[in-house]
Amino acid sequence: MPLVCPHCRGVLSPADRTYRCPQGHSFDLAKEGYLSLLHGRQKGAGRGDTRDMILARDRVHRAGVFDPLVAALAALPLAAPRARLLELGCGEGFFLGHVGRSHQYATSYGLDLSVDAVKLAARTLKTARILRADLLHPLPFADGSLDLVQSIFAPRPLTEITRVLRPGGQALFVYPQAHHWGELRAFLPLAGIGDDKLPAADLGGFVRAASLEVRESRELPHALLVDLVAMSPSIHRLTRDGTDWPGLLPARLTATLSVHVALFTKP
Ligand SMILES: C[S@@+](CC[C@H](N)C(=O)[O-])C[C@H]1O[C@@H](n2cnc3c(N)ncnc32)[C@H](O)[C@@H]1O
Repeated sequence: MPLVCPHCRGVLSPADRTYRCPQGHSFDLAKEGYLSLLHGRQKGAGRGDTRDMILARDRVHRAGVFDPLVAALAALPLAAPRARLLELGCGEGFFLGHVGRSHQYATSYGLDLSVDAVKLAARTLKTARILRADLLHPLPFADGSLDLVQSIFAPRPLTEITRVLRPGGQALFVYPQAHHWGELRAFLPLAGIGDDKLPAADLGGFVRAASLEVRESRELPHALLVDLVAMSPSIHRLTRDGTDWPGLLPARLTATLSVHVALFTKP
């Protein structure tokens, strides 16, 4: 069992619907099937994405808007053995499910801070283990216990990722390029995206195993344009401003998915 107690780092063992460490700290499985490892002051801290953001992202995923990325992830040269996969900031679990299935990981773990994200992920991905935890704190996994850690449009705690990967294990990152859904900016003042390069040097000693751009333009209807905005961090400011922002979007628009995929192997 690679899960460790967030209080004392002791190994967590499952017994019925409770996980316990040797020192007696215990964590109950929620009725929705996720395990919350938030404790003490963490419980009152950040909340992650809102329910509306999660539901908008779910609709976008179900509509196939990110299918070119799904295909690119399925073709990656992921290292064997493929026992344990962890997604950081897994949201409702769309990419966790796809990578786990296409590369046949024996066990998939998804971690997110948002309660609505982990509820939906646990409901959708029956065989995955879904955890509620905060990436600002150490990961609840033992050293060297994971084969792949992926972060897709989510935080990347590099020191912790390095710690929990086994030698030969891999880190997979997907992040937006500056032009990602750029056409929407002609209609709305969306938050800017820096061209996010992740030098291998940031992952001391890791070797780059794959590096590719996924870019595809397609025409999207108004409802999906609204959802693309509603699932993004820009939604917080647009809502605060009280603008009728959906009314500013066109009935249809050709918009461009533009992301970078980077895979690194731990020596
Ligand atoms: C842009 S979403 C990406 C979700 C998913 N990877 C996907 O691409 O569909 C970022 C996710 O990271 C989560 N997140 C943000 N900060 C976090 C933190 N400190 N700890 C855990 N999760 C966090 C959010 O709740 C959200 O679900």
